[in-house]
Amino acid sequence: MKGGTLIYVGFVFLCDWFISGNTLEAQASNRSFTIDYENDRFLKDGKPFRYISGSIHYFRVLPSEWRDRLRKLRMAGFNAVQTYVEWASHEPEPDVYDFSGMLDVEKFISTAQEEDLLVILRLGPFIDAERDMGGLPYWLLRKNQDMRLRSSDPTFLKEVDDWFVNVMFPKVKPLLYKNGGPIIMMQVENEYGSYPACDYAYTAHLRSLYQKAFGDSVLLFTTDGDGVGYLKCGKIQDIFSTVDFGPQADLEKAFGAMRLFQPHGPLVNSEYYPGWLDHWGEPHSTVDGEKVAQVLDDMLSLNASVNMYMFHGGTSFGFGAGSNLGSNFKVCPTSYDYDAPLNEAGDPTEKYWLLRNITQKYLPLPPGDVPPPSPKYSYGEVKMSILGSVLQLKTILQSVSAMWPLTFEELSVPSGLVLYETVIPFRTPDPARLTISDVHDRGYVFVDQHYVGMVSREAKLFDVPLQSLPNQTLSIIVESQGRVCFGPGINDFKGLTTKPTIEDRELKNWRMTPIPVTHTKRLSSALDNLEETLAQQLLRHTQLQGTPQGGMSFYRGSFSIPKDAAHPQDTFLKLDGWRKGIVWVNGFNLGRYWPEVGPQVTLYVPRGILKTGTNSIYLLEQEVSPCALSSKCVVTLQDTPEIAGPTPFSE
Ligand SMILES: *[C@@H]1O[C@H](CO)[C@@H](O)[C@H](O)[C@H]1NC(C)=O
Ligand SMILES: *[C@@H]1O[C@H](CO)[C@@H](O)[C@H](O)[C@H]1NC(C)=O
Ligand SMILES: *[C@@H]1O[C@H](CO)[C@@H](O)[C@H](O)[C@H]1NC(C)=O
Repeated sequence: MKGGTLIYVGFVFLCDWFISGNTLEAQASNRSFTIDYENDRFLKDGKPFRYISGSIHYFRVLPSEWRDRLRKLRMAGFNAVQTYVEWASHEPEPDVYDFSGMLDVEKFISTAQEEDLLVILRLGPFIDAERDMGGLPYWLLRKNQDMRLRSSDPTFLKEVDDWFVNVMFPKVKPLLYKNGGPIIMMQVENEYGSYPACDYAYTAHLRSLYQKAFGDSVLLFTTDGDGVGYLKCGKIQDIFSTVDFGPQADLEKAFGAMRLFQPHGPLVNSEYYPGWLDHWGEPHSTVDGEKVAQVLDDMLSLNASVNMYMFHGGTSFGFGAGSNLGSNFKVCPTSYDYDAPLNEAGDPTEKYWLLRNITQKYLPLPPGDVPPPSPKYSYGEVKMSILGSVLQLKTILQSVSAMWPLTFEELSVPSGLVLYETVIPFRTPDPARLTISDVHDRGYVFVDQHYVGMVSREAKLFDVPLQSLPNQTLSIIVESQGRVCFGPGINDFKGLTTKPTIEDRELKNWRMTPIPVTHTKRLSSALDNLEETLAQQLLRHTQLQGTPQGGMSFYRGSFSIPKDAAHPQDTFLKLDGWRKGIVWVNGFNLGRYWPEVGPQVTLYVPRGILKTGTNSIYLLEQEVSPCALSSKCVVTLQDTPEIAGPTPFSE
């Protein structure tokens, strides 16, 4: 059967040649990437081939650094790069597309080709990858609250079809290996066997979408965990099946599971883990480099092709990071260092050199030197000053009213924070219990602008004792900590997802005010406006209106970088004395910080967002600012990262 497919491909090439009569095209269509099932191997242009690939996500690395990271991958003896494509970033709102800057995936792919790398592309639509909603657009949940994601629900398929057929497939087509580009393989879905839906109609639909668009001109594959239970639902008939596992696995068992579903073809580990992901509050994950190198050697000696997940993890800038939902809700930090061979700042680690020693036994190392680590610099302390609080900012923002609280999705708020307010219309016992069941994810509660406590999905704390009088205003600022990225809980609505009660009486008539933290331009004009307003009111209104320790407030500072060819350089932002929040440098959202729960203490500040001369820092501190407690109101830019800090609250 499989041999028949190969002959058919050859026939198509021949037809192309006769029809076009164009020599260039004929040469391009001579390129082929197929599977020789009989001999358990890939064939590239008809010759036996194996890949040693590494994952680098373009959306986690500044485009100015793509070439450097890809070159370091190539110089480690790897011959391919694997990346996901993140639908949510490219289509932030329905029919609104972004392929600019860090999202110029076509440029990333052609840069890989220029650096002599093949490309393995994973379009999803679901990608997990520790990203918000596993890379699915949040607005799917607005279009249909009951949408069954990753299934043959027609309302889901319609959106996937639009995205793939009208947008992504046409971009990909000229980049396929057969068409002269570097893409040798494309993944269909992503670890679908780990998702309980097990909807074969869905995976068959995806298969036919790809086949209609590409015919036999690209090799399709699936990836699943290395167990029968995963492959059972993840394997798609007539599509090449691969598995994923880390260095702790028993190779015979792991590849044995793959062989059970696919007796022939090359062995492939599509996600070989040289490290692992982190959660806030849990110790930084590390995996022993010697062990990673040794098991890589073992796999390669079995003639397997391997993709290392991650070769370079990079950073979940902005609100990109997702969360996991098991028996507890756990949130992924901003750093995606992953204990990978290239660290978060793109520098080779000891693991890099250990692996390079292995790969060169199997594939020729390209000539030349591995690029050196980028220089790092301590720009020192940056003095911060308070701008105003979220509750003050509210007065100049637009609100929406409704009988019951609306979710972030209903409000068209992708992430960040929303202020929910209502007037308490009745007398309450003293004290009374405010219940905000299943808040998504963290809610800061105020009565008449006075902070009274918080609710938290992570801590499973959903009650706050409060004292209130009729007609006092209840304000709840709710933070999304990132949507669930894996498993059955990915339809993770944010905000107040249930009706808050005081002693079982439902609170009605809500006003919702999105805080424009996802929109740098709108945020900065709102903050400018706030500053003017406060300046006019300064004498009458000195109260901060945040938490008593200076939280739920915006702070600003600036620092100077020498006007010298050696600058700017990479640096790391340390937030001693600050508790939890979001930070922007020159209008670029670096991500969330939460040094006290760890393990991530510093934020990576890539040189690409810095400039010589004056640079700005804005913070939204949600909880505690050192400015309110001591005279030292600073953040620090230092030359070393701290991503493996203490986690005093881990179990
Ligand atoms: C192109 O195809 C021809 C005929 O099948 C083959 O002889 C030749 O080796 C191929 N060229 C390359 C570069 O693979
Ligand atoms: C690996 O491939 C080579 C060349 O085809 C072959 O001689 C060898 O037996 C294979 N090794 C294994 C473990 O399959
Ligand atoms: C790489 O291999 C060489 C030769 O076997 C050895 O001398 C060197 O120490 C190895 N490097 C690492 C980082 O293991």
